[in-house]
Amino acid sequence: MSFDLVLFGGTGDLAWRKLMPALFQAFRHGSLPQDGRIVGVARDDLSDDQYRELIQSRFSAVEGAKRPSPEEFKKFASMLHYLRMDLSKPDDYAKLADLLKQRDASTVVMYVATAPALFTQVVEQIAAAGLNGPKTRIVLEKPLGHDLASNRAINAAVGKVLEEKQVFRIDHYLGKPSVQNLFAMRFGNALFEPIWRREHIANIQITIAEDLGVEKRGAFYDQTGALRDMVQNHALQLLCAIGMEPPINSHADAIRDEKLKVLRALKPWTPESLSLHAIRGQYTAGTAYGERVQGYRDEPGVDPDSRTETFVALRTEIANWRWAGVPFYIRTGKRLASRDARIEVNFRPTPHAIYRAPTGNVNKLVINLQPKDGLELHMLAQAQDNRQRTNGNQSAAAQLAPVQLDLDFDKRFGAERVGAYERLLLDVIDGRLNLFVRSDEQEEAWRWVEPLIDSWESDGGPRPYAAGTWGPSASSAMIARDGFAWGEEQ
Ligand code: BG6
Repeated sequence: MSFDLVLFGGTGDLAWRKLMPALFQAFRHGSLPQDGRIVGVARDDLSDDQYRELIQSRFSAVEGAKRPSPEEFKKFASMLHYLRMDLSKPDDYAKLADLLKQRDASTVVMYVATAPALFTQVVEQIAAAGLNGPKTRIVLEKPLGHDLASNRAINAAVGKVLEEKQVFRIDHYLGKPSVQNLFAMRFGNALFEPIWRREHIANIQITIAEDLGVEKRGAFYDQTGALRDMVQNHALQLLCAIGMEPPINSHADAIRDEKLKVLRALKPWTPESLSLHAIRGQYTAGTAYGERVQGYRDEPGVDPDSRTETFVALRTEIANWRWAGVPFYIRTGKRLASRDARIEVNFRPTPHAIYRAPTGNVNKLVINLQPKDGLELHMLAQAQDNRQRTNGNQSAAAQLAPVQLDLDFDKRFGAERVGAYERLLLDVIDGRLNLFVRSDEQEEAWRWVEPLIDSWESDGGPRPYAAGTWGPSASSAMIARDGFAWGEEQ
């Protein structure tokens, strides 16, 4: 099998931080078809060799074992090519067409890793140059638009020139081994399904916390914010994986149909829920890794009066028979207390207590996504049997202690499993759509977040929180009103 992968934005941040390292890993693992070309496209005036040197220099930032040796890079580099293009010029697409015609590969992947504002233009020009034939697949990076209307416009433009099966909308969370484990846990085992419902589950918490700030992406982030950057896509995809019905098979559309139903069943926002169940925050100066760090508004590229949120906490419900009444809490943010992505499934208490009531939550299943990847089942066990004498009678007062079954997938399967981008890039080359987002799913997710975007335009702005904490206290207050607490507070 032969492929050509055209990387629009070939000198950009995503290309060198994620895509090139992932392509190199796939090459090293022998999973990248050898008969392939990777063509970086950008405006800079570079030869193939200069492009290879640029990519090689950037590999120096890649962690130890993942960095290629000079010999390995030389072999990998023979796949790398470069084409200078001005994406607004039709003639430049004709040059691309000539390059692709040189060898007529069996699959042509167009990876659009440019600013989202260019997506429509690039897709239309690709078609105008006759490059939208059946062997073409297009990969679109998030964010796809900045609201429902712009998302629809992009999807409509793409839909005019390509079939849906040629479109790979990427959400790299779906490529993470830990997220695939979530599907495997639910749909590969009979154990959890009977209790995976409102009768047994009190609440579900999805946390995607980052300890880093906005780093060098201040200007982009300030136009985007946590809701568009993380909630509309990654967090809602996790919510779908937790809440969806078992699909009838593992085909892409069977999975996507079920995810779509979850998104459609999310409770619509009301003025009351917007004020009580949607908290946003923005970090101020604080401490990270034991050092003083600056606040968001002082980050390079950020407006000093910015109202952009760097933290979001939401409460929602999936209004269907399985989940009615069960709160789903979503929380994500930058500069939080630790890098920690997890889903906590909190079970209801025993219907009748014969032990002295233990404090806190007794049974919960924690699905750790990162940094560690695994499952923890929290329960009570008898720690010791204390024989106590009370009034001369002997009674057995059981001492129950919280224990946990801890399954560490990194230890079990090795921490060096196929990374998210590596997995997804190979899926595109092989034409597997299971881990990509369909246009209707994406539009539904935008539809659900849009009332938040609108209401935040005119409210008092995000609440401040100090860097290195778990966000504004209103986030804890929100969940406490339901009688629950975030995992780290239990
Ligand atoms: C990206 C966001 O989609 O996901 C970033 O744009 C965020 O802001 C990143 O840092 C988080 O991904 P991961 O894989 O590091 O959890």
